[in-house]
Amino acid sequence: MSANEIVLKEEIAPQTYRYVVRHPKIARKRRAGQFVILRVHEGGERVPLTIVDSDPEAGTVTLIFQAVGHSTRELAELEVGDQVLDLAGPLGQPTHIENFGTACVIGGGYGTAPVLPIAVALREAGNELLGIVGARTRELVILEEELQALCSRLEVATDDGSYGHHGFVTDVLQKLLDEGQKIDFVLAIGPAPMMRAVSDLTRQHGIKTMVSLNPLMVDGTGMCGGCRVEVGGETKFACVDGPEFDGHLVNFDLLMKRQATYKPQETEACQLESHCRLSEHLRH
Ligand code: FES
Repeated sequence: MSANEIVLKEEIAPQTYRYVVRHPKIARKRRAGQFVILRVHEGGERVPLTIVDSDPEAGTVTLIFQAVGHSTRELAELEVGDQVLDLAGPLGQPTHIENFGTACVIGGGYGTAPVLPIAVALREAGNELLGIVGARTRELVILEEELQALCSRLEVATDDGSYGHHGFVTDVLQKLLDEGQKIDFVLAIGPAPMMRAVSDLTRQHGIKTMVSLNPLMVDGTGMCGGCRVEVGGETKFACVDGPEFDGHLVNFDLLMKRQATYKPQETEACQLESHCRLSEHLRH
């Protein structure tokens, strides 16, 4: 097995893939909440992906991604035995883990992937775990079984009502709180509007809430400023200061505005099926 080699490829939901990639150093060093930046080929865009799991003995890391942009589609074209060009990491701050008491982990869509390693660490620290997984529709619900094994209670919500609760993860969280469920800590990862809605709800109940931000990243080392976010009125870089921040302090309006900035370029790159120039747009 050579470094950066894909040793397992699985489509776990439509256009959502689980890759197990050989990288002994990252497998040994990584902690919950950290991520890697990979490039599929020379000149390719840098793609940040959460490390979902690792096996230090086998020297492998597990990554989950959705093939939605030009670069992730290129990544999805690789097969077992192929190598990604490079894999940098582990990057970012590890999640602050402690025994909060009862922790509720909430994953929205593909955001459920980064939730999993943190759920494992929270459970290992002695927390009782509740889980809420949301998706647009049933076939996009991922990692339900894995989270089920960790949580004393796991609820699913789908936007179209095809599975579990018909509605949003915040409806389910509200229901738990209305039932008098004790919740001491919430971790929410998913689309920015979902993380904002969760944070607004938990703020009313005084529940400490962490969210994981996914602004565009270029170098992943705090040099380019591409991933800057505003937290508590201060500028932070998601790649080195995060990716997790206090959900009650994040300026979600600014985050969403910045996320939308490069949509036209990404769309153009995907339509042309040319090499994605997103990182170049970011630099100029
Ligand atoms: S990705 Fe460049 S500063 Fe964070």
